[in-house]
Order: sequence, then structure tokens, then C-alpha cells
Amino acid sequence: MKNLIAYFSREGNNYVGGSIVDLSVGNTEIAAKMIHELTGGDLFRIDAVKKYPANYDETTKVAKAELRQNVRPELKAHMDNMDEYGLIFLGYPNWWDTMPMIVFTFLEGYDFSGKTIVPFCTNEGSGMGRSESDIRKLCPGATVLKGLPITGEGVKRAGNEIKAWLKELRLID
Ligand SMILES: Cc1cc2nc3c(=O)[nH]c(=O)nc-3n(C[C@H](O)[C@H](O)[C@H](O)COP(=O)(O)O)c2cc1C
Repeated sequence: MKNLIAYFSREGNNYVGGSIVDLSVGNTEIAAKMIHELTGGDLFRIDAVKKYPANYDETTKVAKAELRQNVRPELKAHMDNMDEYGLIFLGYPNWWDTMPMIVFTFLEGYDFSGKTIVPFCTNEGSGMGRSESDIRKLCPGATVLKGLPITGEGVKRAGNEIKAWLKELRLID
């Protein structure tokens, strides 16, 4: 069975290290690619048909409304070979203390029974929030390993932290 690294990341106008900056590559995408370097496997970008606003504040409002209304945004691309994967790294930014709702759509779209999900999340201080318990609720048949929270500001220097986490989980030597 192969490894999959599935992630959602929103580049552009974002809140990092306490200020608004423009990211050419999203923080979670940077972390996803670092994990990919260490573990191999396939990368899959989780994306919504409807684009989030370019502006950070606008995005926080849209995201809050989606969370409150328990919306399931439509996925832009689907995977047709989830059966081939046993270990799924799942990456996302912390949005309002959990995953963006598009990640909920992704988790409900496939059968993760018998698979292992390894979450990682970039954030501005809320860590994993309640995302891990949300993943367990959405994927009751999956094993969910201990997630890694990474601050957006520190993501480019997170190589050693990522390595130590993967070693602790016995996913790399
Ligand atoms: C809609 C929205 C909501 C957010 N909510 C939180 C939050 O509740 N806690 C937190 O620590 N960071 C929050 N953030 C900050 C992001 O988690 C952080 O900037 C992250 O690194 C962005 O990752 P990305 O570049 O991969 O999208 C939020 C950002 C956005 C856009």
C-alpha cells in the first residue's frame, strides 16, 4: 500500500506571526512537501470549486459562516484510487479551531475504514484545536495517530520537528 499526503492550503493574504502577509505558497503546502520529502508517496491537493476571497478578513468571515452552517463545500478534484493507500497524511490550516469545511467534505467522500490517518496542521497558536476529535468522528473506522501542529511562522524551519514526530510515530527510521 502507498502513502498519500492530502492537504488543503490557501496561499495569498494570510495571518502569520501576528501580521497580515502575502504567501506565495501556503504554510500547509510547505509542510506537506517537507513530509513528502521524508516519506515519499503521492501528494493530493484538496481544493474547493468555490475560491475563498483573496482577502484574509473576508476569508475568516466566509469560513466562520461555513462552520456555523456545517456546510460541505464542493471538491474541485476527486481521487479514484483511495483503495491503494493505507497511510494518509492529512494537512490543513487551523480555521476557527478545526479544519476548513472542505476537509470535512474530503473525509466524508471516501471510506477510511482500516486506514491510518496522520494529521498535521499549521496555525497561529490554536495548535490542532478540536480537529483530531473531528477527524475521529468523521472516520470512525480509521486509526488516527497523534497530529503535529506547526506555527505558520515556523514552518520553513520545522524540518527537525517533523522528522522527530515521524520517528516517534515509527513512520521513518
Ligand atoms: C479562515 C481562517 C481562520 C483561522 N482561524 C485560526 C484559528 O482559529 N486559530 C489559529 O491558530 N489560526 C487560525 N488561522 C490562521 C491559520 O491557521 C494560519 O495562518 C495557517 O498557517 C494558514 O495555512 P495555509 O497558508 O496553509 O492556508 C485562521 C486563518 C484563516 C484564513
